[in-house]
Amino acid sequence: MIEHAVPTLPENEIFELVERLDVRGPRYTSYPTAPVWKNHFPTETYQAGLDALVSRGNPVAAYLHLPFCKSRCLYCGCNSFITGKSDTICNYVDRLITEIRNTGNHVNRKLRHSWLHLGGGTPTHTPVDKLAELLDVFLGEIPGIENAERSVEVDPRVTTDEHLRVLADRGFRRISIGLQDFDEQVQKSINRVFAVDQMKAFIDRCRSFGFVSVNIDLIYGLPYQTRDTWRTTLEQVGELKPERLASFGYAHLPDKIKHQRALPADKMPPPRERLGMLLDANKHFASMDYQIIGLDHFAAPHDKLAEAVRNGHLWRNFMGYTEIRGVEMLGFGASSIGEMNEMFVQNTTLPDVYNQRIDEDGWAVARGHSLDHDDRIRKELINELMCNLIVRVPDGADETPGLRDTLQETVANLAPYVEPGLIEPHDDGWKVTALGRLFLRNLAMPFDRYLPEQANVTFSRTV
Ligand SMILES: C[S@@+](CC[C@H](N)C(=O)[O-])C[C@H]1O[C@@H](n2cnc3c(N)ncnc32)[C@H](O)[C@@H]1O
Ligand code: SF4
Repeated sequence: MIEHAVPTLPENEIFELVERLDVRGPRYTSYPTAPVWKNHFPTETYQAGLDALVSRGNPVAAYLHLPFCKSRCLYCGCNSFITGKSDTICNYVDRLITEIRNTGNHVNRKLRHSWLHLGGGTPTHTPVDKLAELLDVFLGEIPGIENAERSVEVDPRVTTDEHLRVLADRGFRRISIGLQDFDEQVQKSINRVFAVDQMKAFIDRCRSFGFVSVNIDLIYGLPYQTRDTWRTTLEQVGELKPERLASFGYAHLPDKIKHQRALPADKMPPPRERLGMLLDANKHFASMDYQIIGLDHFAAPHDKLAEAVRNGHLWRNFMGYTEIRGVEMLGFGASSIGEMNEMFVQNTTLPDVYNQRIDEDGWAVARGHSLDHDDRIRKELINELMCNLIVRVPDGADETPGLRDTLQETVANLAPYVEPGLIEPHDDGWKVTALGRLFLRNLAMPFDRYLPEQANVTFSRTV
């Protein structure tokens, strides 16, 4: 069992603490967070970012967004659209290919990738030949360095052997499977039924095609889940021996996401039960020697991410956790996000609008944010906190006059969190404890200089 992985405080006391400290706040998958970014970000600014990327000469990470799915999972909060028409998918993929070619032309094919991720939606809902064409164009325009990592998100219900072969032949070795829960009543309520033995057979098939790393996504907080049903799911999932796991708290936003209204809210577990499920997942996977990553991800002890945690080198971006610190990222497709030293940039969200933008001017940039030095330092501080559980002022803080003192004061202001056991002194800052892991967002929020201007944004609860 990994030491200090789970809080030792009795559950009741944890519940009371959470109720006392619970506030609404961002999840900090980026800093500055997406609501701060500006609409109408100029394509020329993005292109200048691409030029800077080429001049730095480092390999990049790339994300390709394929938003279509065969059927609607009622909890889904992703940018996804249901269609049974292969024409709709192929028309979109043609535009995606155009965007990739235009980028390759702009950088004179001087970029290389160290990481490629296909996400969605359901990338394997794409007709096999079209998927192969898309990947071949990408690999020609932005070729991989040796041992580049390639990963894909799949819905096992629509993923065929042909899809797996096309991906494996092009160097994909990591696969991320949406499972969510094994309980039949839960599965029916969310409109996503897939039995344990089907999942086991699917994972065996993936491995036989050469996928050496399997990730499984779970969600707690869904209708009809109880701690008992959830613990059964955790055990069944553990037996599948995935290399990585994610256990997300269900984000219920029925005002914004219409199809979520079809879920019975009165059957969803109450807050204490929901928090208990998070603790159950932490306990169960820690007892199997998985390393806890951030708040709700897990990696097998031999996995690169577990090693990165042990060395304090974990980092993260919009594609998830990574052991490559500071890797810059390009996004292709509707709603995809790029992250470079100088900026965040996001494409337009709706596939139809994306198609039109690509047809009209070859690019689909819609929003973004140029980072100043203050942003970059705070981003580094918050990332270090969310990934490596350390709070300290980063080395380069002095370039902006007064910034070091401001941040040092904010670090000192976290002192009241020592007494309830969330943090402990470490170098010239703090180290977050196993209990404090539950409150990472609370600890990050004081460092966010944009929070005061976001009073009208609705955030989910911090825990
Ligand atoms: C972008 S989805 C794509 C995965 C793939 N389409 C599938 O369903 O198998 C990635 C993951 O986000 C998580 N997710 C989606 N909607 C969510 C929500 N409302 N709250 C929490 N997690 C969610 C699910 O665990 C899902 O597997
Ligand atoms: S969870 Fe995956 S398969 Fe289901 S609707 Fe969302 S993106 Fe599509």
